[in-house]
Amino acid sequence: MTTSSKFSKALNLLDYQHLAKEVLPHAIYEYVYGGGADELTLNRNRSAFDEVCLWPRVLNNLTQGTTATTILGQSWRTPIMLAPVAFQKMAHADGEVGTARAASALDIGMTVSTLSSQSMEEVSEQLSTPKWFQLYWQLDRGFNLALIRRAQEAGYQAIVVTVDSAIHGIRNRAQRANFELPENVKAVNLEDRPPLPSKAFTPDQSIVFQGMMSEAPTWDDIEWLIKETSLPVIIKGILHPSDALKAKSIGAQGIVVSNHGGRTLDSVPSALDVLPNIRKLVGEDYTVLMDGGIQRGTDVFKALALGANAVMLGRPQFYALAVGGAQGVAHMLRILREELEVTMALAGTPRIEDINHDCLFAAL
Ligand SMILES: Cc1cc2nc3c(=O)[nH]c(=O)nc-3n(C[C@H](O)[C@H](O)[C@H](O)COP(=O)(O)O)c2cc1C
Repeated sequence: MTTSSKFSKALNLLDYQHLAKEVLPHAIYEYVYGGGADELTLNRNRSAFDEVCLWPRVLNNLTQGTTATTILGQSWRTPIMLAPVAFQKMAHADGEVGTARAASALDIGMTVSTLSSQSMEEVSEQLSTPKWFQLYWQLDRGFNLALIRRAQEAGYQAIVVTVDSAIHGIRNRAQRANFELPENVKAVNLEDRPPLPSKAFTPDQSIVFQGMMSEAPTWDDIEWLIKETSLPVIIKGILHPSDALKAKSIGAQGIVVSNHGGRTLDSVPSALDVLPNIRKLVGEDYTVLMDGGIQRGTDVFKALALGANAVMLGRPQFYALAVGGAQGVAHMLRILREELEVTMALAGTPRIEDINHDCLFAAL
């Protein structure tokens, strides 16, 4: 079966996941699909959406309906952004450049990972929609600034600093599948990175605490970063309401409520679970995105109703890229956008700002 006939079989985002399982090498599929440890959080990310019911209103006039919204002062066609997903050449030769072409064709924004397998400049050239760069904190403060300066020069409009994965979670699924990064896939943005100091551990020291966590950022680092750049900084990987408030207080322009797609610490709540409380605390005007488990237009709608300004989409872009390259991603994004439009139409909400808690059914 050709690639194009394969992706034409996909009617929804879950179909893309199933088709990707057929085309990807087993170890890569398991790495991408998998969550941390027992995958409790991975599963919770889905079930949290399934537990929420919509409560539609009928006979409203929907002829002026639109998914347009404003995020950080920018007009977005739809409240959906591609989440940073590393090493996309593992999915397809089109890589991040293909994803960027698809995002541009569908007028949907993209956040490009520090660990992209094509350079941030190459990807940026193909991206005409909202364009954010995701930063994984690097040990050398100056190198972080160099990366941000590069991103700014390449036209990125915001920096997303991911703070929930200073070390990998326990990834048993990927370990069982013997996942290794293919040799031709590299973190090309980090090629000039200063070498990390070599460390010898005494028997009473821990590779986790004295090793990896000694390279991890702290609030002081993020506050410093925010002061050093003129770009808006968004902190990704917030779950605790106190951290949301702290992010706001140090000058982050927004947050992404996220558990990294259930890939880091297992047994944490889903982003959807914690979203309403975070929204209540940070106030109506603060920019809050969320991700984890989005598969349907109804999921996007539920996230907005529970307080998100927009959602991010992780694995589905990788699956669609694997199945159909750039065309696959464009097709997948079209499906999701249309599903959101259908949901809004049938729920009786013509505009994004009409979507709120009253659109959800709560059993009395
Ligand atoms: C294969 C893979 C690679 C990822 N790479 C990154 C990354 O480089 N930076 C980052 O901040 N998050 C990364 N994430 C997390 C996503 O940005 C996002 O938070 C998560 O995938 C959302 O959940 P979903 O996959 O259910 O949509 C990655 C996730 C996956 C599945």
